[in-house]
Amino acid sequence: MNAIDNRDVQSLMTRAIVQDIKPEAEGVLTMELVPDGEAEWPASDAGAHIDVELPNGTVRQYSVINPGEPNKYVISVLRAPDSRGGSKYIHDQLSDGSVVRVGRPRNNFPLIADDRPVCLIGGGIGVTPLLAMAQTLAGTDREWWLYYCVRTPAHAGFGRLLDRFGDRVRMHYDSASGSAPDLQAMVGTFDDAHVYCCGPQAMLTAFEQCTAEIPSELVHIERFSPADIPADSPAFIVELVRQGLTLDVPEDKSILDVIEESGVQVESSCRIGICGTCETAIVEGQADHKDEYLTDDEKKEGRSMMICCSRSKSPVLRLDI
Ligand code: FES
Repeated sequence: MNAIDNRDVQSLMTRAIVQDIKPEAEGVLTMELVPDGEAEWPASDAGAHIDVELPNGTVRQYSVINPGEPNKYVISVLRAPDSRGGSKYIHDQLSDGSVVRVGRPRNNFPLIADDRPVCLIGGGIGVTPLLAMAQTLAGTDREWWLYYCVRTPAHAGFGRLLDRFGDRVRMHYDSASGSAPDLQAMVGTFDDAHVYCCGPQAMLTAFEQCTAEIPSELVHIERFSPADIPADSPAFIVELVRQGLTLDVPEDKSILDVIEESGVQVESSCRIGICGTCETAIVEGQADHKDEYLTDDEKKEGRSMMICCSRSKSPVLRLDI
């Protein structure tokens, strides 16, 4: 398992006070979270995220913008138009002094510590983990660029932080160019670089296409929305062995959706494969892992899977539900 598994993280959640909450850009709030009381929080690494549990019980994941700083996590939150109770609640209900709960930082999107150059590409609120990486890189001799892509100047935030990075930052405004960013050109900034991307789904899909020929160990993606189910992902069957239920999972639905539609209650939170809440033991069959929670070794072992996003390589998957 990961060093801290999801159950541990849930139990390690501590009360936090919201402070210095303020508008960052169009539809984006930035806030500091600090311990309520004597709790000691570890510093986060670049690329890490925390679980934030809101007073309404919703748990969401947000990148920590200030790496290396204990006892304070800075996060930014975009008001999602289709918010299921996370970003809408934060924008409408939280203010300085509000109390939430936070988990310890976890990192599915680490900055690889070698000598290669680094190309960071962030779209909209997806820039937040990359801002943490940029701060870490700024104190090193490594070559790096940060591309920050937004719709208009009003959608761009983090000005004071970006100013510190000088000409390492390249802005792309859709409104100015009249087109989406040229990811191919950005990815080609350096030879043999690590390339990192976080942003909306369309950007990540384009990024995956233009990095298809790059060795996978150099390509790093962080998602904060569900990945599209691949068009060539076949339908399969799941058997819930404890429930005695057999369900068809069609090409366009997740296992989690199908199980919920059957009336069986299972735990979930992020629904995009990053939090570990929906981890389910595999009794028989081979999962096609799509999450960013399990390690590569855990995926090879095949003992469990994230049913919110992963698929099946075998016609039938038997799950411990
Ligand atoms: S619900 Fe978060 S990993 Fe599945």
